[in-house]
Amino acid sequence: MLYYMPTKLYYGKDIIFQHKEEIVLGEKAIIVTGKNSAKLTGALDDVISVLEELKIPYIHYDGIGENPTYEMVLKGKEIALSNECDFVIAIGGGSPMDAGKAIAVLTANPELTPDDLFDMNNYDVALPIVAVPTTAGTGSEVTPFAVLTKPNGRKSGFKSELIFPDISYLDPKYMVKISKALTLTTAVDALSHAVEGTLSKKSTPLSDMLAKESIRLIYEYLPKVLNDLENIEYREKLAIASTLAGMVIAQTGTILPHSLGYRITIHKGIRHGQATAMFLPLIAEEVEKYSPEKTKIIKDIFGTLDKFFVFLKDMGVYEFNIDFTNEELELFVNEVMLSSHVKNTPGEYDKGKIKNMYTKITEI
Ligand SMILES: [Fe+2]
Repeated sequence: MLYYMPTKLYYGKDIIFQHKEEIVLGEKAIIVTGKNSAKLTGALDDVISVLEELKIPYIHYDGIGENPTYEMVLKGKEIALSNECDFVIAIGGGSPMDAGKAIAVLTANPELTPDDLFDMNNYDVALPIVAVPTTAGTGSEVTPFAVLTKPNGRKSGFKSELIFPDISYLDPKYMVKISKALTLTTAVDALSHAVEGTLSKKSTPLSDMLAKESIRLIYEYLPKVLNDLENIEYREKLAIASTLAGMVIAQTGTILPHSLGYRITIHKGIRHGQATAMFLPLIAEEVEKYSPEKTKIIKDIFGTLDKFFVFLKDMGVYEFNIDFTNEELELFVNEVMLSSHVKNTPGEYDKGKIKNMYTKITEI
């Protein structure tokens, strides 16, 4: 068993002010954010006030949208290079953090194109990375992964130990203003990470301990937070759950629900967490047939796999109308069968079975 998670993680209210000197990982920072969330949550203001106090120059690039593209990260690389930035501060949900990781590699290796990121043998250096999450979902603040959308519309992840953030500041106060819809989709993304981690062929006793606590926290606190969005105590629990789930997938990677969900996000516009979580019960049922011991944690917490499905349904995971054309189904099935997620999912999967999963989702 290997456990590797080299990120220095600070957690707590106003934590960035208590450990501000450690944010200085170079001489000039590129701050990478989306258009709004870093600003609205107060995280951007905190980072800027710390940098100004420490007299560290920075440039702010706010061009990252949901599901970051090659264009977005190339723009970031260009800005970082032309301003001679030598470290990255990524603030936001998964999209800015993942884009910040890509920019860290591309800037340190200017000859590389975004396609080159997907083979970690192409590079052995990246700019240092600071991560400041503003949602409780992706776990990107503690993972060696980043997901980009390729020019052909395919969402693909890359992995490199170089993109583990060097420091992450996890402050639940940034999360209290998040809308109910975003709270749900990010929390069930975290739940997907923990559940997929425990179902994965790559699960370990240590990753399972983290997954179990993460799932338990989400089971207990997601219903509460959805009814009391500004409750800081509940937000703290979800923040911890999400980071634990990130620590799980840093070891195990994700499995089929993520691959199945990527197509729905890109082609149907359903947000990542929800698009992924909707497949969890179907995959858990499949895994149960081949490796029943791997569903034990889910059953210990929810009672049965059926009750796990009911929990997701009650939370609102299936509240959408969705249908697929035959062409879409064919495309999705082919892409999923080519993804690396298939081989890490216990069970046997062929095109028919994958197609059936998409069809079942439309019938719920
Ligand atoms: Fe995810």
